[in-house]
Amino acid sequence: NWSMETFIEDAIQDIRQRVGEEKVLCALSGGVDSSVVAALIHRAIGDQLTCMFVDHGLLRKGEAEGVVQTFGEHFHMNLVKIDARDRFLQKLKGVSDPEQKRKIIGNEFIRVFEEESAKFGDHRFLGQGTLYTDIIESGTDTAHTIKSHHNVGGLPEDMKMELIEPLNTLFKDEVRKVGEELGLPDEIVWRQPFPGPGLAIRVIGEVTEHKLDIVRESDAILREEIKNAGLDREIWQYFTALPDFRSVGVMGDVRTYAYTVGIRAVTSIDGMTADWARIPYDLLERISTRIVNEVADVNRVVYDITSKPPSTIEWE
Ligand code: XMP
Repeated sequence: NWSMETFIEDAIQDIRQRVGEEKVLCALSGGVDSSVVAALIHRAIGDQLTCMFVDHGLLRKGEAEGVVQTFGEHFHMNLVKIDARDRFLQKLKGVSDPEQKRKIIGNEFIRVFEEESAKFGDHRFLGQGTLYTDIIESGTDTAHTIKSHHNVGGLPEDMKMELIEPLNTLFKDEVRKVGEELGLPDEIVWRQPFPGPGLAIRVIGEVTEHKLDIVRESDAILREEIKNAGLDREIWQYFTALPDFRSVGVMGDVRTYAYTVGIRAVTSIDGMTADWARIPYDLLERISTRIVNEVADVNRVVYDITSKPPSTIEWE
């Protein structure tokens, strides 16, 4: 029977023994796995760990700030934040194909990581949040083959650093328990699945700062309302997406021509199949009203009522 206390103690001993006096680098993404592995390694070796966080500008509202607050201010880790927002936006300019966007973001991430990690040449080890499920889902599994191109945050293959993967015997629910035990905040431990390419694939078509703002702000309203309604752990994923069109509306006496925001909320076990969540109408109404009132350049909100299949969870 798996005991979390024993796991953490053993992992700490293993890390200390393996690392000795050397240094470790961890790349934080804002996600559960990389956060837990950083907290665990930090518990083991403290200042011998450096965490690197690449802000690609495609995270949700408050997430980049949350990483700095949690790891920098609360845990007092050596945290290096790289502001790569302009870089990613430049690369995405004029690109509207979903797979092309994914490729660009994945490649750019590796490039930034290579450039920046070169500055930590004295770090012998690289800590990674690989889980047991990442290992057993081999390439023979079609589901994984479909998703493999998905994974941004993939690192260069010729990395000289030695890998440390202390979570590679754990399942997701166990990782969450370890994260809670290590004192990580709920927003990180219970973070809903979030795609590596982030908000870039929730802005349909070309990504611009203006469209990212709309999706980021509307998503923040949706998340706040779902949380206040106590539905945040029942719904597998909930987010907004921005279709690439404007339509006519009226506000006061004025005709408007503005964007439509789509709400996507699904229940699921593993993301492979999904059903649209039966969010109460009153709640949907509140969310819709708030989005139209609070987010500039939006005059319409629609709710996606398709399941997966035939649809997918994301819109791109
Ligand atoms: P779909 O849209 O294929 O999504 O039904 C299934 C699950 O995968 C996530 N997803 C991604 N995750 N990079 C990721 O890391 C991606 O490019 C990507 N695309 C989809 C999606 O959020 C859902 O949880």
